[in-house]
Amino acid sequence: MTDKDVGRAGLLETLHDWQRAGLTHLPKPRLRADLAAKATHAAEPSADAGDEQTQGASAASEMTASGTVGGNSTSVSDRLAALAVVAREVAACQLCTELAAARRQTVFGVGTPTPRLVFMGEAPGADEDRQGEPFVGRAGQLLTKIIEACTLRREDVYILNTLKCRPPENRNPLPHEAANCRGFLDRQLDILKPQYICCLGAVAAQSLLGTTLSIGRLRGRFHDYRGMRVLCTYHPAYLLRSPDKKKDCWEDMQLLMREMGIALPGR
Ligand code: URA
Repeated sequence: MTDKDVGRAGLLETLHDWQRAGLTHLPKPRLRADLAAKATHAAEPSADAGDEQTQGASAASEMTASGTVGGNSTSVSDRLAALAVVAREVAACQLCTELAAARRQTVFGVGTPTPRLVFMGEAPGADEDRQGEPFVGRAGQLLTKIIEACTLRREDVYILNTLKCRPPENRNPLPHEAANCRGFLDRQLDILKPQYICCLGAVAAQSLLGTTLSIGRLRGRFHDYRGMRVLCTYHPAYLLRSPDKKKDCWEDMQLLMREMGIALPGR
């Protein structure tokens, strides 16, 4: 094996770890301003030109050019490495024997390691169990539309679930299953450090906030979870069955974007 092969194997291993942590896109490297100024091809598009990130997108994630995050010094690669450690533990977890026996794979989470906003769902369904990524089925497509209506992209936020395994026949998670998975969720949130969490549906909201109140009672205002601001709204799967509730969900998203300082078109 040559040094080049060893280097390539190490790089591939790191990329696999980052993929396990939920990363689907590598952030574009940005030129340091002083180096950019010296660049000989001044007339050519810069590394940032053509970057179609909207104001909303950059306001939704905290990654800086140096690879550190906002005001604190946690580097992006440290976060990815820490997430990958948790993801490996999740993949090996056998605490819920019924779920562990039935799953094709665990579904850890996806998105930027530096989100200001995390979307939290219930549990993987059949599509997610097959693909290993949360919210990729019909409900996921609606969630993607909701995120895009907020001028964001999936890769600007982080998406995860209360449970990391698919419950058989898509039944609701049982209390002991949510309790078994809670340590993983809290560790994910500790690493991601979002300012905002949007709980999708009653399972996520009730489990995170430790309440039995319905979504109808929880939505439309902010709650607190360990210093993070939590907004609850209807689950996209419920919206597919009850389209008349989409208006309420959109009101919740407008409230969330206003609070995050993300301007929506026409407002
Ligand atoms: N519903 C959820 O709550 N999560 C998913 O990942 C998919 C559907």
